Amino acid sequence: MKKLSLAFCCCFVSFLSFGQTAKNTLAIIPEPVKTVIKPRQFILPKYVTIQAPLTKDVVLVTEYLKRKLTGAAGAMVTLKANSAAPAAIKLLLNKKADTVLGKEGYHLWVGAKGVVISANEPAGLFYGVQTLIQLLPKEIESTEVQHVKWVAPCVDITDYPRFGWRGLMLDVSRHFFTKQEVKQYIDQMVRYKFNLLHMHLTDDEGWRIEIKSLPRLTTVGAFNVKKVGEFGDFSAPTPDEPRTYGGFYTQEDIKELVQYGKDRFLNIMPEVDVPGHSLAAVVSYPELSCTAGADKYQVRSGEHMMDFGAGGIKALVDNTLNPASEKTYEFLDKVMSEISQLFPFGYIHLGGDECAKNFWEQSADVKALMAKENLKNMEEVQSYFEKRLETIVESKGKKFMGWDEIIEGGLGPKAAVMSWRGIQGGITASKLGHEVVMSPTTFAYLDYMQSDRVMEPHVYASLRLNKSYEFEPVPDGADAKLILGGQANLWTEQVFNFRQVEYMTWPRGFAISESVWSPKAKKNWNSFYPRVEKHFARFNEAEIKYAPGVYDPDFKPQMNTDNKLTVEMTTEIPGLDIYYSFDNSYPDRFYPKYTGAVEVPKDASQLKVITYRGKDPIGRMISMPVAELKRRVGQKGQ
Ligand code: ACM
Repeated sequence: MKKLSLAFCCCFVSFLSFGQTAKNTLAIIPEPVKTVIKPRQFILPKYVTIQAPLTKDVVLVTEYLKRKLTGAAGAMVTLKANSAAPAAIKLLLNKKADTVLGKEGYHLWVGAKGVVISANEPAGLFYGVQTLIQLLPKEIESTEVQHVKWVAPCVDITDYPRFGWRGLMLDVSRHFFTKQEVKQYIDQMVRYKFNLLHMHLTDDEGWRIEIKSLPRLTTVGAFNVKKVGEFGDFSAPTPDEPRTYGGFYTQEDIKELVQYGKDRFLNIMPEVDVPGHSLAAVVSYPELSCTAGADKYQVRSGEHMMDFGAGGIKALVDNTLNPASEKTYEFLDKVMSEISQLFPFGYIHLGGDECAKNFWEQSADVKALMAKENLKNMEEVQSYFEKRLETIVESKGKKFMGWDEIIEGGLGPKAAVMSWRGIQGGITASKLGHEVVMSPTTFAYLDYMQSDRVMEPHVYASLRLNKSYEFEPVPDGADAKLILGGQANLWTEQVFNFRQVEYMTWPRGFAISESVWSPKAKKNWNSFYPRVEKHFARFNEAEIKYAPGVYDPDFKPQMNTDNKLTVEMTTEIPGLDIYYSFDNSYPDRFYPKYTGAVEVPKDASQLKVITYRGKDPIGRMISMPVAELKRRVGQKGQ
């Protein structure tokens, strides 16, 4: 009896410790719908047979997996269609559709003797493969052969997405990113089961897509003066500064990108941002403007151009299309004819955001249009424009989507809305019966700073990882059946290179991916951030840049009633120690440890701070000027 209970205890303890280890090794993002961890491990053999029905779409998946396994694991991979052949990894398409899994779901079974992924569609197999890769050691992400034990925990996973629209937007206008970089972005997205890349192709700073019938859009509109520093306040370009920065995608490039996405089960949605944000188009074809002198305009190079004051948006040069001119609609018809042929995706995004109306207000053309069409205000003028554009887009067999400003003067009959100024636009549009994609600044703006302002290139707002993780695409009051999903947006005014694209996207992209894929009930910050850290390690292997802002403290300065400046510091993730100095030397863990609000010594000029986990420095060294703390509490700095 004693022996028996001892044996039972040992068994129980080893089962428990196995459970702990397995749990610790599982770090899947986005969190699957259902995961059962089983004892034992799968050991990837040196010679791997992947067995799958070798149809065109499934071959995309098997080739993807083969590249991964031959790359880092150095495995010798053979593909076999014969279902009777023994195979370490089997991919199966369900003969009878599993209604739970839908189009993108999968079932992943990892046993000691082999792996089986089954799905209704090849896309599901692809996502099953992504999960399998995340079960393998982090070194699988390396671009070079690694010598580690290639094991995966045995699991039984059933998984499918919460939303069909899981997107990221990349602004390729403010700064241009090459075709190769866009492909890299797609590669990073699909690891996290995103299926939609929204390309913001046109803006004041550049028109980035070849339109054969309108060549000046790219010979003229795709180039400006290269400037570096803080975008938005650059000096006005002088005539001797070369207009050679920028570029565009040829139609062949676009076809290649669309195919690259399709091969990874990802669609590309083009955005042509009109009637505002259209300076590149106006410079190329000044007859599109309602303002005299537009022929002297130049593509913007980041100089001050818009005022976003309390009185509304005012443009300093007229960056809008003339809503009262037939030339505008003829132009847009040509653009849509070509774009609709290039992108198979069902929606075209037509912008509609931040359209300054101050030049329209001055325009005789616009006044005549208002009288003729009985339009009461500028919002109705924009609505007139949007409705005409919707007709053009639909005539090309596509659906029309715009930013939430298109609601203001009245929505066109079938317009879909992307809600960015918070969630209200999405709630309103869905209640009016329109399709909605949620991408509110509050949670989903990847251009916002993700650590303290002293650590980041300056943008007008901050968005930390824990706030991004709160993204809920179906807000209270919305008609849930019309919410297609969600996406995060990376505007690139302050993003000058592709490494910074990566830095701005990750880890907040993880938070968005989990918000649009995983069941709402599965979201849990305390389970999420340790997984994020595991993915940081994977990104180190893959040499993908990410923001470590989650380790930087948040500063809350306060002026006490006795006129003493104090600072509170908190971290997003628990278990970190904050060490600090006021004497300008760099603190380590032998310096004062933060335990509560600290008083800033009267003559101190710098607060220097670093976070540790145990004995290891983990955060970045932050130098916070005391003058900056004073500025934040409304006191003049020194
Ligand atoms: C936007 O952020 N202007 C859509």
